[in-house]
Amino acid sequence: MEFFIDTADVDEIRKANEMGLVDGVTTNPSLIKKAGRDHEETIREISSFINGPISVETLSEDCEGMLKEAEEYMTWGNNIVIKIVMSPEGMKAVRQLSERRIKTNVTVVFSPLQALVAAKAGATYVSPFVGRLDDVGHQGMDLIGQIRQIFDNYQFDTKILVASVRHPVHMLDSALLGGDVATVPLKTLMQLFNHPLTDKGIEQFIKDSKEWAGKALA
Ligand code: G3P
Repeated sequence: MEFFIDTADVDEIRKANEMGLVDGVTTNPSLIKKAGRDHEETIREISSFINGPISVETLSEDCEGMLKEAEEYMTWGNNIVIKIVMSPEGMKAVRQLSERRIKTNVTVVFSPLQALVAAKAGATYVSPFVGRLDDVGHQGMDLIGQIRQIFDNYQFDTKILVASVRHPVHMLDSALLGGDVATVPLKTLMQLFNHPLTDKGIEQFIKDSKEWAGKALA
């Protein structure tokens, strides 16, 4: 399973990248707003040090506007993925971009049939939002299993990009259910390192090594 980082904060991306945890980046208008910087400048900076795919979301509501934005975004970096919302106009745009072999990521997906529609349009990635489903009392991860089964039944190449990931159990379930990618905030990536027995084990090794080093020097 690939790890994408779900942020437009360049410092966070650099930090995760130094730990080898960034196979790609996803952004959206809310994350750009949170980062508080110019859209183009931010994406260009991310592209300057990330080789993996960077999802950049179109803002138009009609196909023509989405395609125009896609043309512009493609000039911002070498591995830009055009992120497009699940809608009839969005799927028109995805179909045209996919015919031109331009990578796309269909976002705000909440049902298995929306994922099927995106795959049939030729999407490179589909982004089901598991955390937001949990927020309204559904089992968000059930959606991942259903999409996996549908894509496998019909040999779709569209990758399942598990989004709205809020905690490590979402990542564990994504990996167990066959999610291709999980896009994750830095906080959740950092939580992957944690285990109380690891902390205890390291503490013991340091303690023992100090005693051993003390004896060796004596
Ligand atoms: O990429 C967008 C998606 O991950 C949203 O996450 O936490 O705002 O539901 P969240």
